[in-house]
Amino acid sequence: MFGLTRVKKAAALAAAAAAAAATALLSAPSAAAAPQPIVGGTTTTTTAYPFVMQITDASQNQFCGGTLVSPTKVVTAAHCMVGETTSSVRVVGGRTYLNGTNGTVSRVSRIWIHPSYTTATRGEDVAVLTLSTAMPYATAKYVSSTDTSVYAAGTTARILGWGTTSSNGSSSNQLRTATVPIVSDSSCRTSYGSDFVANEMVCAGYSSGGVDTCQGDSGGPLLVGGVLAGITSWGEGCAQAGYPGVYTRLTTFSSLVTAQVNS
Ligand code: ARG
Repeated sequence: MFGLTRVKKAAALAAAAAAAAATALLSAPSAAAAPQPIVGGTTTTTTAYPFVMQITDASQNQFCGGTLVSPTKVVTAAHCMVGETTSSVRVVGGRTYLNGTNGTVSRVSRIWIHPSYTTATRGEDVAVLTLSTAMPYATAKYVSSTDTSVYAAGTTARILGWGTTSSNGSSSNQLRTATVPIVSDSSCRTSYGSDFVANEMVCAGYSSGGVDTCQGDSGGPLLVGGVLAGITSWGEGCAQAGYPGVYTRLTTFSSLVTAQVNS
């Protein structure tokens, strides 16, 4: 995952450098912005957000997030599942702390990765896991294909995860959350050039940076009005001015997800 992020970072940087407006953004003193927790959020619990799942390895070390959308189905990012098998992954629900031992641990009986997925910056960054053990937690609703108004620029979205609280920082032991505004497609295109694929991705963040998802938050939810509308996917660094977080545009994949949820 961290390796993948570096590859994507290089690609995003190259694309941004090629973009006409990028020079000013790259020279902006973004490193000076004080990084705070997800980056820039507050602690919360899986009691408050019971559908937020830890995706872990077989030793229950968390490496991505996911969202419970039915008792046995979890939506996450395709890039989280690269190199994983049904025996290498676990899903942990009801566990607020990474070092906790409580909650429900489930094995995974099936991993569906979008069949066209290649890399996060090309899109299709969506996967659905089928759990061997049903989770006794409230599920999240997710957008339908016609709900595209959730992506109106300026709409407040909520992000959640156990990821690093600064770029290259360490993970948060406790689940964190923050809110960020949805960014227009044209603005995100200015940031990321052709790596931003508007019908597959949506961006969220403040133009001044400071609040964002970061490494380890991938696969976790972006909620609009409490409904799952995006999946944490990629970004150039974390919380940098001019570089919002990029999320899977779930309306595009909603029917495919439903087919998996019902399968
Ligand atoms: N790719 C990262 C992960 O695997 C998520 C990065 C999100 N980056 C951002 N700036 N919003 O955890």
